[in-house]
Amino acid sequence: MPDISTTYMGIKLKSPVVAASSTLTKDIDNLKKAEEAGAGAVILKSLFEEEIRQDSGLDIDTAFHSEAYDYMSADAAMVYGAGEYLELVCKAVKAVSIPVIASVNCEGGKWWAEYAKSIEEAGAHGIELNISFMPFDAGISSQEAESRYFEVVHEVKKTVKIPVAVKIGQNITAVPYMVRRLHSAGASAVTLFNRYYQMKINTKTLELEPVHYFSQESEAYSVIRWVAAVAKESSIDISASTGVHNADVLTQYILAGASTVQVASMLYKKGFSAVTELNQGLGKWLDEHGMNLEDAVGLVLRKKIRQFQTLERVQYIKIADGSIIR
Ligand SMILES: Cc1cc2nc3c(=O)[nH]c(=O)nc-3n(C[C@H](O)[C@H](O)[C@H](O)COP(=O)(O)O)c2cc1C
Repeated sequence: MPDISTTYMGIKLKSPVVAASSTLTKDIDNLKKAEEAGAGAVILKSLFEEEIRQDSGLDIDTAFHSEAYDYMSADAAMVYGAGEYLELVCKAVKAVSIPVIASVNCEGGKWWAEYAKSIEEAGAHGIELNISFMPFDAGISSQEAESRYFEVVHEVKKTVKIPVAVKIGQNITAVPYMVRRLHSAGASAVTLFNRYYQMKINTKTLELEPVHYFSQESEAYSVIRWVAAVAKESSIDISASTGVHNADVLTQYILAGASTVQVASMLYKKGFSAVTELNQGLGKWLDEHGMNLEDAVGLVLRKKIRQFQTLERVQYIKIADGSIIR
């Protein structure tokens, strides 16, 4: 078996396959299963800012009021609800020997800077900031929306020494620029991308219903484009997330420049043996090509740069005669 170890957030991992943050990763037995199956690291289920707000007794409207928000930011994270999460971090770190990355879902930097400190003290090896600020308000410009990400990273990095990754969604206008700014603000890594909760309207009942919890392999292909674009423009560590359902997709992400991939849907569908399947499939590919993982990260970007530029093409110009895909 070739060497499939990698470096992510400055941490050495024995495999690039990481158990993504999901409901599975709030269970200690599952973390052990992930480790046994060969995962390089685990990312705990996110702690959501809303959970702390709700525990604090403030309703969402009050919490969004800026004065109330500032007031709560002072110490609320240390007092309300979040203790359970710190306990999970402590238990996880004791239960497994692979790195444990805590995940927090945040909107305000001030709030999470305090809490990130506690997470560091609880023993987490790193923090993934699951920032999902959605500018639904027509009064918020894209620049304003995106500057909130930088503020969060900046504030968190002021208070912790452990590495910080930022998980963003695909709803960003200029992904490489955004990532470069996140890197300058102190992020060691970026996770491309979160896959947001989707809803449909039931036209019979007029109720909103959740839909598509799990990804499809085909969703990986828009993400591969951005992984390559970011890898070309930045030296930040990239974790690819979305659509990893087999070792071939995992290998494509690696070749595009990701040093780790995160898996959630495949774990739900196949159990933790999926991690072993992915490691073995990647190992086989590396073996066949006579290389270790580190040689493969971003390889296509380095070796086939001209062909790779077609990834930046978004319109169907010559697809009909096959000239793009040949
Ligand atoms: C049931 C479920 C719960 C999830 N919860 C979280 C979460 O708490 N925090 C987070 O950052 N991502 C969460 N995710 C997103 C995953 O971490 C991952 O980014 C996404 O599902 C794409 O990967 P996949 O194609 O392997 O599913 C969740 C995904 C699923 C399916």
